[in-house]
Amino acid sequence: MTSTLLPLDPANVQGDILVGLPKKVQHYLFFQIDDDVAAFRKRLHLLIPFITNTTQAQDDRAKIAAHKKAAVEQGKNYEFLQLSGVNIAFSQFGLTKLGITDDMGDTAFTDGQQKDSKNLGDAGAPGADGEFVPNWIDAFKGQIHGVVLISGNCDLTVTATQATVLSIFNVGARITLHEVITLKGVVRPERGHEHFGFRDGISQPAVKDFDTKPNPGQETVRQGVILCGREGDVDANEESEKPFNRPACALDGSFLALRYLFQLVPEFNNFLKASSDPTKGLTADLLGARLVGRWKSGAPVDVFPLADNPAAGEDVLQNNNFRYDFPNDFETQDRCPFAAHTRKTNPRNDLEGPKIGVPTENRRIIRRGIPFGPEVTPEEATSGKTLHGRGLIFAAYCGSITNSFQFIQKSWANKVEFPPKEHVNPGFDPIIGQNKDGPNGVGPRSMVGANPSDQSATLSLPVEWVVPKGGEYFFSPSISVLRDTFAL
Ligand code: HEM
Repeated sequence: MTSTLLPLDPANVQGDILVGLPKKVQHYLFFQIDDDVAAFRKRLHLLIPFITNTTQAQDDRAKIAAHKKAAVEQGKNYEFLQLSGVNIAFSQFGLTKLGITDDMGDTAFTDGQQKDSKNLGDAGAPGADGEFVPNWIDAFKGQIHGVVLISGNCDLTVTATQATVLSIFNVGARITLHEVITLKGVVRPERGHEHFGFRDGISQPAVKDFDTKPNPGQETVRQGVILCGREGDVDANEESEKPFNRPACALDGSFLALRYLFQLVPEFNNFLKASSDPTKGLTADLLGARLVGRWKSGAPVDVFPLADNPAAGEDVLQNNNFRYDFPNDFETQDRCPFAAHTRKTNPRNDLEGPKIGVPTENRRIIRRGIPFGPEVTPEEATSGKTLHGRGLIFAAYCGSITNSFQFIQKSWANKVEFPPKEHVNPGFDPIIGQNKDGPNGVGPRSMVGANPSDQSATLSLPVEWVVPKGGEYFFSPSISVLRDTFAL
């Protein structure tokens, strides 16, 4: 790839990556390309005008904000504007099918997520040929070539846009795209909160020369941490920051790690109740906050260790302004357990601080997931047992799956020794950590530090609250590459 690059053109980058497609509902249409690849590529050309780029996604967000402001000023109920967005991404199977033989320079992407599932710690067992087979739903066990992301204000809009997309690829009996499965995400009534009840999507890196006004505490990363071929698209595992050798078609595209994660919400809530000790100050809410690293409101426990602060939780000037660097933060868990989900997945000063001094810039991801499934029913709440599938369609963009998404899950969340501390092994990330060393690839999990007044006590955790049932790694190309290389 050439070393002199033009400045980033947001209109050439798909809108979900740097801005996020505005959404109340989002469908992920996983597909296979028909054997008549030329016909698919011609149809892909017709889809390009429907792809929402970064400039359009920014405009849509500005329109929504203005609409909301006007509604508030007029004392009216705010209704999300009617709009929809479309993006597309391809797996390695899809690239191969399209005849694109370039090596994208990312081992995890090339191998695909099913092959990586053992690395990620997913439950499973060896199949007839001895290869590890994860306990996923069948749709994700076959080859998926690509995914179309369709977002919008409501199910009706998104379903209509999905029909339009399908009608572009499939005209009459002429089928060029075969639908494998469509996952349907919908924001919860408690908007912005995932199914365990915690505000999500707060901490995202700012991208240099694009997000020019980062919020307090929000770290700015070089563009190449998220977009291939840009400054900072380097191998973080090499001391010398060796630039990845990317083909021309990678420029301004981003890798997308998608995971179909079920959440056992009644079981999680029951555990919090059973393991709390309100008489000694450890309420179920405090325990939950210490497992996640934030109160349900989003307020970080590192700043608000004893009581929630809902106003701070929703205030972008306060809710991300912490680094686990209060006096004693490095060695005690007074404020936040070392194993808390946010601390495991972005350890901030645990690694970057003077004690260790390892940069974590190239481990950062931009998260764009959406919950799926219904609210917990009274029957489930009473019995403490999940009866209806629900969870998170986890979606993360990054310049390298191997160096960031995969690394976070495998080498941080699943590693009991992480973050490195002198006197204690922190244990598993209680939310997503997986112990593959057990029968059928699931073993017992535990952590320390959950109880602030007995920090050396080990808390045994259920083997899982988050159950992966599928996923794939994709590449979301720039609009020009989509037009000139992928389409005909
Ligand atoms: C942050 C929930 C899966 C990586 C968070 C937050 C919540 C949350 C509530 C705090 C809000 C925020 O800072 O934005 C969940 C749930 C998951 C899940 C319920 C599964 C169902 C994952 C996975 C990864 C991940 C699979 C990556 C392997 C992160 C990162 C952050 C985060 C990087 C930001 C940490 C920070 O910068 O402080 N998650 N998460 N999460 N999560 Fe997850």
